[in-house]
Amino acid sequence: MSDNKYKIEFAPLQGHTEFVYRNAHNKIFGGVDTYYTPFVRLEKGESFRTRELRDIAPEHNEDINIIPQLIASTPEELKSIAQLFINKGYKKADINMGCPFPLLVRRQKGSGILAHPEKVEALLKAIEEIEELEFSVKMRLGLDSAEESLALLGMLNESKITHITLHPRLGVQQYKGEVDLDSFEKFYSQCKKPLIYNGDIMTIEDIENITNRFPNLHAIMIGRGILANPALAFEYKNGPLQPADKKKKMRQLHDSILEEYSSYLQGERQILEKMKPFWEYMPHELEKKTRKKIEKASKLSQYESAVAIAFSQWGKVGISEEED
Ligand SMILES: Cc1cc2nc3c(=O)[nH]c(=O)nc-3n(C[C@H](O)[C@H](O)[C@H](O)COP(=O)(O)O)c2cc1C
Repeated sequence: MSDNKYKIEFAPLQGHTEFVYRNAHNKIFGGVDTYYTPFVRLEKGESFRTRELRDIAPEHNEDINIIPQLIASTPEELKSIAQLFINKGYKKADINMGCPFPLLVRRQKGSGILAHPEKVEALLKAIEEIEELEFSVKMRLGLDSAEESLALLGMLNESKITHITLHPRLGVQQYKGEVDLDSFEKFYSQCKKPLIYNGDIMTIEDIENITNRFPNLHAIMIGRGILANPALAFEYKNGPLQPADKKKKMRQLHDSILEEYSSYLQGERQILEKMKPFWEYMPHELEKKTRKKIEKASKLSQYESAVAIAFSQWGKVGISEEED
């Protein structure tokens, strides 16, 4: 059944899709063709964060198809991070030109670079000298205007990048407002590189609406939609999971992530900090009261009893709301 389906890529989401989550998701749900790491940055032009080094360590990314992502605004920065990826044995790298966080935008990184074609050009030149890696770009329509991505398209088409992922919002929008499919269409119709759609895909119907309108897409990238329903990619390719199987897999996913974090993090507070985001995009599966209990837990024992309630209510919350 999966033969005529589009490839599904799991979007990078800082604080959510780190290696512990990615590996557990790949093993328990699957259905994803490629995972991306959240971006790796160079700190003060010279060092890397321990957490980010841990996230891309080869021993944490075995048996999974993964592309590490970097964020940079100058060729020097890009080359330093690319060298790190090469040293770790990677053959591909994705360049973040979409992050909307004001601090990074001000440094002309992420979506902040889109308004500076000369900076984008310098990065695209720099990658020509790095033969060990294939590069791709993940971007938005622009920082302030969709014209920005169209203005960059000529040089992107001529560059050596292998593919482009486009999230059709502006950086200034952050995650607010609707995705702009008409602007996506303009880019799509002139883009000569394999193009991946990304943004607000929550259901199989959403995937089909996009692929019907844009049949030449190379793949669909999904972020929050898979966090909300980790079975989404599998179900798109293989048909629906039985609710009881899905619930069992959700429990497995949760428990294996908790077990893995508990094995190397010191202290309950750190473990809770890593576990709470697991629930952030799943409001439809949780009663408000249960969600509050999870959010407020300050001890692992409190958290685990809230999670037990969450799973006892699993699959019933949405149904009773529908009946109301
Ligand atoms: C909490 C959070 C963290 C994110 N971290 C990254 C990141 O590290 N790199 C990146 O390219 N995009 C990042 N994004 C953007 C997503 O990859 C994706 O483009 C965006 O969420 C839209 O897709 P979606 O609607 O399928 O989630 C992040 C988004 C969120 C909400």
